[in-house]
Amino acid sequence: MKRDFISVLDLDGELEDVIDFAIAMKARQKRGKCPEYLRGKFLGMIFEKPSLRTRVSFEIGMRQLGGTALYLSPSEIQVGRRESVHDVAKVMSRFVDGIMYRAFDCKVMRELARHAEVPVINGLDNLEHPCQILADLQTVKEHKGKLKGLKLAWIGDGNNVCNSLLLGTALAGMDMSVATPEGYGPNPGIVKEARKVAKNKGALITLTNDVREAAKGADVLATDTWVSMGDEAEKAKREAAFKGFQINARVLSWADRKAIVLHCLPAHRGQEITSQVMDGPHSVVFDEAENRLHAQKAIMARLMKG
Ligand code: CP
Ligand code: NVA
Repeated sequence: MKRDFISVLDLDGELEDVIDFAIAMKARQKRGKCPEYLRGKFLGMIFEKPSLRTRVSFEIGMRQLGGTALYLSPSEIQVGRRESVHDVAKVMSRFVDGIMYRAFDCKVMRELARHAEVPVINGLDNLEHPCQILADLQTVKEHKGKLKGLKLAWIGDGNNVCNSLLLGTALAGMDMSVATPEGYGPNPGIVKEARKVAKNKGALITLTNDVREAAKGADVLATDTWVSMGDEAEKAKREAAFKGFQINARVLSWADRKAIVLHCLPAHRGQEITSQVMDGPHSVVFDEAENRLHAQKAIMARLMKG
């Protein structure tokens, strides 16, 4: 049976195995070459939104695994508009061995996965960004040597990246506190799921509007843009609402003195994060960006090897 990676929860029970596999493949790649687990295979990449990291890391990752990736831009397939989601899934499944999909609507993501006969990997939708979280947790593990028992503080918008981090940290047994302005908290359904998982692992999830409370003693600080792709119409309103929800030197001083700082990028320097922090000694944002490559190679090898 084919397996998809739509939500971080799809890796329940194997999240750390995949992260360890990514760390091992990264080391082999740096020494020379990683095994060509996907020799002769094809990945179709459907993008409804722009991308730097996701596009480049999947394409290079496929190449390093011995396969080929095909980039389909937002103007090409037009899933559900030029033809039905069902028909796109069936036709793509006749051509490629896996589909990476960056979508506006998580319901269309699920529908495509339901009809596709090959694995579908979520390259971001409005609800989750699971590949990002694999890379984030890989980065935390590389810098901290472990995941379980650490505290991650999210400062800013309760968006797709925050949702996936809630699930990922819960699966890893990490505490997570989320500080957002009123009305911008994470998805309530995801919070409920994450709390269920966290409870089993003895981990704690806290939602607050108080940045200091969230950041206090954190081992990891994380943030993302205040205006996600698709939210552009609310730009002015959001920029006003999020003032004060910034990772800066003051917020960093409330965290653990060895805290690391994550940002999935692209960053808006001076808004959700200052340049001082982003370019400072606590920041690991470019390791995090690089790890998209290694984490996605691990997930592709796992789902597409056959
Ligand atoms: N972090 C991330 O997904 O970046 P891109 O939008 O550039 O792919
Ligand atoms: N939350 C952002 C992440 C970009 C990688 C967005 O959805 O636009």
